[in-house]
Amino acid sequence: MLESPTTEAGASTAPAQASEEVLVLDFGGQYSQLIARRIRECGVFAELLPATTGVEAIRERAPKGLVLSGGPASVYEVGAPAFPTELLDLEIPVLGICYGMQAMVQALGGRVEAAEAGEFGRTDLTLTDGGGHLLAGLPEEQHCWMSHRDAVFEPPQGFTALASSPGSPVAACEYPDRGLYGIQFHPEVVHTPYGTEILTRFLRDVAGCEQQWSPQSVIEEQVAKIRAQVGEGRVICGLSGGVDSSVAALLVHKAIGEQLTCVFVDHGLMRLNEAEQVVAAFEQFGIPLVHVEAEQRFLDKLAGHDEPERKRKIIGEEFIRVFEEEAEKLEDAAYLVQGTLYSDVIESGGSEGAATIKSHHNVGGLPEDLEFELVEPLRMLFKDEVRAVGAELGLPDRMVWRQPFPGPGLAIRIVGGEVNKERLDILRAADAVLQEEIRAADLYRQLWQSFCVLPVVRSVGVQGDGRTYAYPIVIRAVTSDDAMTADWARLPYDLLERVSNRIINEIADVNRVALDISSKPPATIEWE
Ligand code: XMP
Repeated sequence: MLESPTTEAGASTAPAQASEEVLVLDFGGQYSQLIARRIRECGVFAELLPATTGVEAIRERAPKGLVLSGGPASVYEVGAPAFPTELLDLEIPVLGICYGMQAMVQALGGRVEAAEAGEFGRTDLTLTDGGGHLLAGLPEEQHCWMSHRDAVFEPPQGFTALASSPGSPVAACEYPDRGLYGIQFHPEVVHTPYGTEILTRFLRDVAGCEQQWSPQSVIEEQVAKIRAQVGEGRVICGLSGGVDSSVAALLVHKAIGEQLTCVFVDHGLMRLNEAEQVVAAFEQFGIPLVHVEAEQRFLDKLAGHDEPERKRKIIGEEFIRVFEEEAEKLEDAAYLVQGTLYSDVIESGGSEGAATIKSHHNVGGLPEDLEFELVEPLRMLFKDEVRAVGAELGLPDRMVWRQPFPGPGLAIRIVGGEVNKERLDILRAADAVLQEEIRAADLYRQLWQSFCVLPVVRSVGVQGDGRTYAYPIVIRAVTSDDAMTADWARLPYDLLERVSNRIINEIADVNRVALDISSKPPATIEWE
């Protein structure tokens, strides 16, 4: 199993279902995923479903509460997604946020119109009547985060207005007897200081959620589920060294012990000592591990190639070949562990049915004809939850917090020339210096990625009394939330100076260090 698989192999597991859950109906807002994450941070399991989900499907899930997300539409436009009033028959408490509140208000006979001016960003909020049930006890005057152009001018019959802002006559409203609540602002963003209190009040006091959803409860739930799925079967798991595959493997091992065999295809394109760290960590847990040292195989195949996509294809194909060879040796293995995350599930259009995983990258994708049934213990988890579960299971910090690392590894960081052992060793040494200094400066976790690139060009320098003609190393460090966009990190000058001095002094084949100051777009994070 790898970080970014491309293919679908066998049947997927059914989505996890905590015994107590809240459903977030997604009207297309930019913060919808964040709502689900925040609810989980409040200790309640939440899942995101499209706003078009049928009422029957919701009834079957029997959630304790429903949250309606924001969205880009105007409720009075033709074709705008409507609040399905049949939901009210279920008598499940509802919290509408932004568009979600407007849709509910409109459907129940209140008045939603375009406001004279929209409200975007930090906005003053004033409570009326002590804030009713939902906002009781919070300060009369507070800030909140808004993002809307339409506003509620009159709540529906039976509702009480709870707050207003300069641009929203009704910035919050409720009808406690029917369990209906609405807020125009976003409790899920950190810029709404009382957001967590408001969500917690809805979850605990209104919806009556009692259980604690936590990394510990995820582990218990998944262990039971994995046991039920695989029984006495043999399971195989491909390790990449990344946090997803490691945590998935640990969970499966906890569930079924030695029925699991991990396969770590070491393509020789990892960073310094990284392969050893993976092997040591898994040995420490007593997990059966096949460590395939395949560096020479990969180098032989890569010889003479410098075109980025060709390199990716070569590595991807060789990877599959090696993995298949190992899988064949474990004749009776019927199950394959995949580290699919909830964000992959959402991106591929829902949590039901077989896993269709995004195919942004090809390395690590396994062929469709591998006849395994998938075990996907992280399918309902966000990345930060995977880290929390990993930490709870005792995964070393270094692996829990590892920055993303591409499947083709250092091969796509040697640019404009062949990938060979000499260049890999230079790049590995430079990268080790950068990592060490960034960790020492306590910046590692703040950066999405930080690494070195080796352009295959040489330039003239002078060292001692001699002329040098050697490679440059480029430092690439970025901040990002999801790798879709990224900004170059403003690393402190003294750190850059240390890194540059050390790289040039310690690595004979490097005489120049440059810093990449490009954002994505228009550049990408990797150089290839
Ligand atoms: P770019 O360079 O497209 O990268 O801005 C976005 C994210 O994807 C990672 N990346 C890869 N990951 N196989 C992978 O598994 C690949 O071929 C690959 N190419 C880029 C990159 O490190 C960044 O996190």
